[in-house]
Amino acid sequence: MAFPTTRMRRLRASEPIRRMVRETSLSPDDFIYPLFVTHGQGIRSEIGSMPGVFQLSIDEMVKELAEVTSLGIPGILLFGLPATKDAIGSEAYDDEGIIQKAVRAVKDRYPDLVVVTDVCLCEYTDHGHCGIVQGSRVLNDPTLELLAKTALSHAVAGADVVAPSDMMDGRVAAIRKVLDDEGYESTIIMAYSAKYSSAFYGPFREAAESAPKFGDRQGYQMDPANAREALREVALDIEEGADIVMVKPALAYLDVIRAVRERFDLPLAAYNVSGEYAMIKAAAARGWLDERRVVMESLTAMRRAGADLILTYFAKDVARWLGG
Ligand code: PBG
Repeated sequence: MAFPTTRMRRLRASEPIRRMVRETSLSPDDFIYPLFVTHGQGIRSEIGSMPGVFQLSIDEMVKELAEVTSLGIPGILLFGLPATKDAIGSEAYDDEGIIQKAVRAVKDRYPDLVVVTDVCLCEYTDHGHCGIVQGSRVLNDPTLELLAKTALSHAVAGADVVAPSDMMDGRVAAIRKVLDDEGYESTIIMAYSAKYSSAFYGPFREAAESAPKFGDRQGYQMDPANAREALREVALDIEEGADIVMVKPALAYLDVIRAVRERFDLPLAAYNVSGEYAMIKAAAARGWLDERRVVMESLTAMRRAGADLILTYFAKDVARWLGG
């Protein structure tokens, strides 16, 4: 039955009606808040291209968690800035490394907060690539052992979830095996499964000081032109033992989120990356966009596309806006 019997505007007439028929919701439960941790004390250094996001020393990070937990955000994602970088990213798997120390500090004060650690070498290598380098090549198989060591050291420190973001083939299986062999069979793996080689990571590389010194990441991260390939990546990560899969970035890849949602039943995370954050912040600062409405609309779109979880630098703001 069409117009005039059917009138779509009836269900848009007032906010209570709109609330009743709304299909997609946002809640602080859906968010994971990323944090950048650095050595030292009393450090709170704002990232130029990410206003409102800071490199924090462990003491400052712990202070920050009071707010995160009081807003009802269930989890954080930790990135580390090492004291020194070398060819094989040694601090990534050092028990006294920045992440290992940070995880112990968080778990000491907030045992119930879900601690997710990013497992990658790029912040820890002097060349800035996510694996071992030979000449201009990033070697896959020799890197797996280092990633597995890194994930294990995070689990030993108390991480609930390890999140490999390197895009080496076989890393989920390598990590699952070492965790199981060492008695960490309950540690969750959230795989950055469909991680694209994206210019939207630009501000992050300033925040994490992890830009590659030569070349780029196109030899291991995915080609933005490919969607079917993302389904193969996700299928392989599930076969290898991933508990949660991820699509990254989010906003330019909503079709990929939707496709993964339709094909697979695992919890699906979307990473609302640094460049997506920076664009909104920059436009809002000029008065060109209404920050709050654009953020809510963007995150709602990610959920509508099919994401269960959203990793976002806006987590605290949105939780506050939701009245959390
Ligand atoms: C590490 C890593 C990156 C991001 C998360 N983990 C950067 C990269 O691959 O270069 C990006 C996060 C963001 O942009 O917010 N490999």
